[in-house]
Amino acid sequence: MILAFAPGIAHAQPVEAELHKPSAWPDRVVLTWRGDPARSQAVTWRTDVSVRDAVAEIAPADGGRAFLAKIASHKAVTTLLSTDLGEAHYHAVNFQDLVPGTQYAYRVGDGVRFSEWHHFRTASAKPEPFTFLYFGDAQHEIRSLWSRLVREAYAHAPRARFTLHAGDLINIAGSDSEWGEWHQAAGFINARIPVLPSPGNHEFSGFGAKEESGVTAHWKAQFALPANGPVGLEHCVYYLDIQGARIVCLNSNEKRAEQAAWLDRVLADNPNRWTIVTFHHPVMSSAFSRDNTDLRKRWLPILDKHRVDLVLQGHDHSYARSGLDGFRDAGGRGTVFVVSVSGPGFYKVDQLGWMRRWGEGKQLFQAITIDGDRLHYEARSATGELHDSFDLTKQPEGKMNVLEDGPAAPESKTSPQNPSSNWVPVLAVLGLVIVLVLMRVRRI
Ligand SMILES: [Fe+2]
Ligand SMILES: [Fe+2]
Repeated sequence: MILAFAPGIAHAQPVEAELHKPSAWPDRVVLTWRGDPARSQAVTWRTDVSVRDAVAEIAPADGGRAFLAKIASHKAVTTLLSTDLGEAHYHAVNFQDLVPGTQYAYRVGDGVRFSEWHHFRTASAKPEPFTFLYFGDAQHEIRSLWSRLVREAYAHAPRARFTLHAGDLINIAGSDSEWGEWHQAAGFINARIPVLPSPGNHEFSGFGAKEESGVTAHWKAQFALPANGPVGLEHCVYYLDIQGARIVCLNSNEKRAEQAAWLDRVLADNPNRWTIVTFHHPVMSSAFSRDNTDLRKRWLPILDKHRVDLVLQGHDHSYARSGLDGFRDAGGRGTVFVVSVSGPGFYKVDQLGWMRRWGEGKQLFQAITIDGDRLHYEARSATGELHDSFDLTKQPEGKMNVLEDGPAAPESKTSPQNPSSNWVPVLAVLGLVIVLVLMRVRRI
């Protein structure tokens, strides 16, 4: 393999890095929210450092060219990011005072070199039905294989309100070519549908510039987020309200106690009918050896206390989905927990007692629709086939949701309360006792 070396940085990049170097033309255009999704829209993009004065233009969209006479221009805030591929400028604009439920056209550039005109639609200011897409870890072979998954998801739900990413978007936090792959795979989808990202452990690992929290410097440069999280984690812990749902994005890598206190406050003062929480490491893992007891101890009581409807997670590179019956005696009753993977890197699953459905070796996306008192969930493969589905229905105040399992792939169905999973701790203790007895006998 031919290697190209970035001067001053002791890290080799494969020749694919050529694809991802910045130029004066805008690329990596991505929508996020800093403020109210009904009245604002943030956008960031990248150029090389020759572009110092960047702008974003916007107008209410129409089916002809008339909107071009109504353009407002906004000067971007520009930051420098040094990466293994060299230096780049990231530009950010937050469009404000927008009209709810309205389609806008926008483009970004330097006044000469512009992107194409993209469209987005502001959210409604009141509860209204909507669909969003959820992706577990992308992480591996992102350009080559994750691309087909994200494009299939878009083909399935082209009017999705946002895409939610439960961490490990890439494998090496500071690898600019991996981030390039992530942007390239999603392409214009990210410029049209806002992204809600939560960081995984791979946004912290490896080389490259980092924020004080340890998350890669790419994170803040690329994602303009609400900044309403706990002190020191404002750039990667946040919540927003959209059309009757509160979406909370946590960072399961660090400061879990601080986030628990913050989460308790955010969920205590929540006027929305539906509450969805996302983070990377699962409170109930899909493999016995990957258990996260500390996370479960700190966060599950808060999720229980506030009757969170749905928890969307990643990290285990497999699929597992709970019922409403909780996890042993630890809690979780009334909430549906999901672990999923969207990229092509797969780990083995143990069929554990908490699982209602499972999956191994499949790239999956989820399309989730909220409509009044009903939440409809579908997990689908990179080829669009249904893997799992269920409906949640809200009940009169104080009562637990009703869960109805829907159609699913035959291989996703677990044997109820698979006895093997319940025997694992027993067998482990038994094994330890046998070893201790043998050691004693040998001493005698
Ligand atoms: Fe991962
Ligand atoms: Fe992970």
